[in-house]
Amino acid sequence: MSENLNGLKRTHMCGELGKANIGETVTIMGWAQRQRNLGSLIFIQLRDRTGIVQVAFNDADKATMKQGVFKKAESVRSEFVLAITGKIAARTSENINPDMKTGEIEITAFDMLILSTAETPPIYIEENLDANEAVRLKYRYLDLRRPDMQKFLMLRHKIAKVTREYFDSEGFLEIETPVLTKSTPEGARDYLVPSRVHNGKFFALPQSPQIFKQLLMIAGYDRYMQIVKCYRDEDLRADRQPEFTQVDLEMSFVDVEDVLAIDEGYMKKLFRDVLDIDIETPFVRLTHAQAMERFGVDKPDTRFDMELINISDVVAGCGFKVFSDEVAAGGSVRAINAKGGADKLSRKKIDALGEYVKNYGAKGLAWIVLEADGNIKFPIAKFFEDTEMKNLLEATCAKPGDVIFLIADKNKVVFDALGHLRLKVAEQLEIIDPKQFSFLWVTEFPMFEYDEEEGRASAVHHPFTAPMDEDVAMLETEPLKVRAKAYDMVLNGSELGGGSIRIHSSEVQSKVFKLLGFNEESAQERFGFLLDALKFGTPPHGGTAFGFDRIVMLMGGTDNIKDVIAFPKVQTSACLMTDAPSSVDEKQ
Ligand code: AMO
Ligand code: AMP
Repeated sequence: MSENLNGLKRTHMCGELGKANIGETVTIMGWAQRQRNLGSLIFIQLRDRTGIVQVAFNDADKATMKQGVFKKAESVRSEFVLAITGKIAARTSENINPDMKTGEIEITAFDMLILSTAETPPIYIEENLDANEAVRLKYRYLDLRRPDMQKFLMLRHKIAKVTREYFDSEGFLEIETPVLTKSTPEGARDYLVPSRVHNGKFFALPQSPQIFKQLLMIAGYDRYMQIVKCYRDEDLRADRQPEFTQVDLEMSFVDVEDVLAIDEGYMKKLFRDVLDIDIETPFVRLTHAQAMERFGVDKPDTRFDMELINISDVVAGCGFKVFSDEVAAGGSVRAINAKGGADKLSRKKIDALGEYVKNYGAKGLAWIVLEADGNIKFPIAKFFEDTEMKNLLEATCAKPGDVIFLIADKNKVVFDALGHLRLKVAEQLEIIDPKQFSFLWVTEFPMFEYDEEEGRASAVHHPFTAPMDEDVAMLETEPLKVRAKAYDMVLNGSELGGGSIRIHSSEVQSKVFKLLGFNEESAQERFGFLLDALKFGTPPHGGTAFGFDRIVMLMGGTDNIKDVIAFPKVQTSACLMTDAPSSVDEKQ
């Protein structure tokens, strides 16, 4: 029983109607949120993506309501698609609904078309739905009807629009780069597409447009940007998808400062235009070494303190062998002070935290609880002399009410374990202000890290990243000490974007490939076109890629990346709605 529009035109969106429209005749179209039948009076709430408005069908209203309409209204159920024409009337004061945007008015119906009926949907179409995620994703088109999901996607649209405005005003050109291409070196596994024409050969989907944007600089385009899909076959997390979107940019004739200034200007405009929030620039900067030393991670959440404290010197001579031996062996002992944690962190919780740090390789977690009455609980206290104990409490700024956590290990493990513990404890103490936006830059990343599996250096960022000028000489002698002109923008402990100044000399590029274990032949095979291009006049250049989905997540206040992607994939990289990936037939 679907009716057609037959020329009927919509005049307004549901959520836009208000007191200003009183007395007007309007036609609205949308989905029935709910129908209430009071006998001779029927209320239907009609919903579109702008909101909900109430429509009244009065059986006594024979003069204005078309014949048969009341009967139709009786048959309406949730999610029927309707076109309703009627007159806007003020609600009497006792009927005003302050929780509804359109709550001061309602529509007195004249006519209605049932454009489509609907079966009972498997999920409720309402805000803050508490439904099984798998069901939501299987019926994603219904899930996307819900107002909170629509808000996320409208926000995403707005952010994309302001992004293009900003980069356009700064002289950037949006240029598309290919999706069927050759493997790109961002460090994840590639998605491959077989070629029909070239039997046995494959295209790779780009992990990023990295090489193409560099080639565009060589080609003289000066400033490039693109809102672009990237594909990475890697393990998913709450802020990772196998296919995600970057705001990708590249600039010529620049050094680190120029790129950071453009990136900060972008954030400033986004937050002002989209959220009406003024963020302060320039952002705080930490070198990678400082970030590790103070927070244990390269993307610190700086909305709270609880910084790492190196107590190696204090405990180097103590009787607790686990500590003194680790210091002697070149590792360290570090601590965090959970201020005021004594009454919130029960013994059971502390034990659970001890298990938690094992995920990051820690062999144990020592702790000191300073109870409010001055009593100190420290299971390994017997190993510490009085002055050692005093120094330990002083070094960690321990006061009654605090809990101190200590870890001894190789630096890498201590940083990783305490860095994650810091976040976990902050969560448990509820000291993170969810409304705060805390930006910072992490700069001067190391160029290389030692890859135990491969037994050689691998690139921390990617192999096109330029070394810092003062460290170039060390490429030959101590490559693991070379710092890169690389930077990450961090927001509330999340890596929002990253980039670098690139190598613009083919000699340096060849040298770096060699350090990364490519011989001349393999470098030529994979990146020959770039090495060639570098020989034909290359401007100094650099850029950044932002995780667009992550920007929308953080600005939208969700910690689930799926919320901001219309049709996302689940943990196993499958799509529950289309059942992709699927088998194909032999011929295909
Ligand atoms: P990088 O690999 O750091 O750099 O990626 C840039 C940003 O993209 C986001 N991101 C992701 N978001 C969601 N899901 C994923 N699987 C995912 N992977 C990355 C992050 C990250 O900061 N070509 C370089 C950039 C450059 O050097 O200009 C690159 O891709 O927010
Ligand atoms: P044990 O001597 O193994 O019984 O450990 C005594 C206490 O020291 C326990 O609370 C352990 O969790 C803690 N501990 C053990 N190893 C470490 C370590 N590497 N760093 C910090 N604490 C540790």
